[in-house]
Amino acid sequence: ILKIEVAKNAGFCFGVKKAMNETIEAAKKYDSIYTYGPLIHNNQVISKLENEGIKAKEDLEEVKNSTLIIRSHGIPLRVYEDAKGLDIEVIDCTCPFVRKVQNIAKEYGKKGYTLVIIGNPKHPEVIGIRGWCEDNVYVVESSKDLDSVPNCEKICVVAQTTITHELWNDITNELKNKANELEMFNTICAATKERQMHCAELAKNVDAMIVIGGYHSSNTQKLYKISKEYCDKSYHIETADELPMKELKDLNRIGITAGASTPDWIIKEAIEKMSDIQQEKNDMMSMMEEIEK
Ligand code: F3S
Repeated sequence: ILKIEVAKNAGFCFGVKKAMNETIEAAKKYDSIYTYGPLIHNNQVISKLENEGIKAKEDLEEVKNSTLIIRSHGIPLRVYEDAKGLDIEVIDCTCPFVRKVQNIAKEYGKKGYTLVIIGNPKHPEVIGIRGWCEDNVYVVESSKDLDSVPNCEKICVVAQTTITHELWNDITNELKNKANELEMFNTICAATKERQMHCAELAKNVDAMIVIGGYHSSNTQKLYKISKEYCDKSYHIETADELPMKELKDLNRIGITAGASTPDWIIKEAIEKMSDIQQEKNDMMSMMEEIEK
């Protein structure tokens, strides 16, 4: 009998799930609705939202007098002001864990600390956090960037929620030499790490692993890499249509995990398609029984 198992924490994290649900609810209520940038990085979800009339925009002028969803990554404070000035109704889906980082940035910026954000300066979450404090802020992506941080009296350091603990430890250790007073807030979110841990656990115990998520999604690529370490027959797919059915058909235990931007309905479609393998096996067995009679 074929056993299909889904890894714990596969797919959307809490913050993305919340943003997605609130967007779907809002679409039922408002005629004209936009998201501030793509809600998540998944082509299938984006086209589904577009079909519902929800479009991604970053130029607020184009959203005038409409409703704007703020995605889980959050936005700089001034964008709220700009939206107000343009009569835009904001539905704020900033993840509560990201809001916590923004509030730290705001509070310590006001207290006169130099803020250091460990993360990718181009990532919308980091751009958002930056926009919650005064000008005295540095974004550090690797040890190399530390040269640009001057020696200061007081530094407050926070993390982009998806960085690794290794990067956090490396950078904060070096920052200790840069300030007389160092306030550290490890704001890494556990969701990514837990998803990876459960992927590894499942990959160790199955005949094949299916990793579902965008080909460009870096967290899905990472999951695939982890999976491959423990299970040679690991496959990265975007949708159920790409399942390697031939390779799976003689196996008994198949594991599934999915990246942070993969919705449950894509995972379900994959499970349903793989359940066909079991049906084929059953049909084959009944045929054999018939022949033997
Ligand atoms: Fe997701 Fe929020 Fe964590 S968006 S990764 S639950 S910070």
